[in-house]
Amino acid sequence: MALILSGRDAAVSFKNKIKAKVQKRIDDGKNAPHLAAILVGDNPASSAYVRGKVRDCKEVGFKSTLIHLKDDVREEELIQNIQRLNSNTEIDGYIVQLPLPDGINEKEILLSIDPMKDVDGFHPENLGRMALGLETFIPATPYGILLLLEYYGIETTGKNAVVVGRSHIVGSPMSILLSSNIEFGNATVTLAHSRTKNLKELTKNADILIAAVGKHFFIDKNFIKDGAVVIDVGINRVSGKLHGDVDFDSVKNIVSAISPVPGGVGLMTRVGLLMNTLQASDGRD
Ligand code: GUN
Repeated sequence: MALILSGRDAAVSFKNKIKAKVQKRIDDGKNAPHLAAILVGDNPASSAYVRGKVRDCKEVGFKSTLIHLKDDVREEELIQNIQRLNSNTEIDGYIVQLPLPDGINEKEILLSIDPMKDVDGFHPENLGRMALGLETFIPATPYGILLLLEYYGIETTGKNAVVVGRSHIVGSPMSILLSSNIEFGNATVTLAHSRTKNLKELTKNADILIAAVGKHFFIDKNFIKDGAVVIDVGINRVSGKLHGDVDFDSVKNIVSAISPVPGGVGLMTRVGLLMNTLQASDGRD
């Protein structure tokens, strides 16, 4: 039976470490880290994610502020809210929950975020710094995946890794990080996407497979190499139930390790955000 890469267990361990660091800040007379989130509209998935993030803050002793704007908010008004957060010295870092409603230019929004407070790591300056191996905020999902690999001691150096999905939030930064000269990097990485030919041939050669496609059960046993480590980033709601991009039952007897959905990467994304917020507050001391 495969090793289950439990985001639940790993998240508890990392959150305890974060809690201890927050306590140390307080003991040293410093502020608790303060995360703000801007939520536009009432997309149920986005609302659930943001509320989860607010709960996490409470759990580890961070302050949090939720700014909830109507889904017909004008772009200028959203940018004004962002500028207020940029200049608010009480806020260490903040996120603008994506996706944004039609009519709002996401690129303009991301560009208006102060890179020093961009704890999602989505600003081009931070993504550029990440690509160059400079200190930055690593986007929360790839960061959480690296932490999951670290928690379970999964070796990546010299391995063939295939990332399926090239989103700016997950697939693209994940491919850069796994190929970087960092701990839990140094893999030989293939970034596959919707135009990739012979996908199965590539994934069949993957020691590590990261599925970030956004299609439920897209990956089954026919895509998997014996003994592969599979990280399932998908969170797809089908008939009220959450499913990953990987057909867990189909692959569970072939893989050596797999992250479940739910209970896997989603919880680690939230840890990645907490780590970035702690880093932001330490950086502002
Ligand atoms: N939407 C889906 N994932 C994310 C994330 O990590 N950050 C933000 N801001 N929006 C998202």
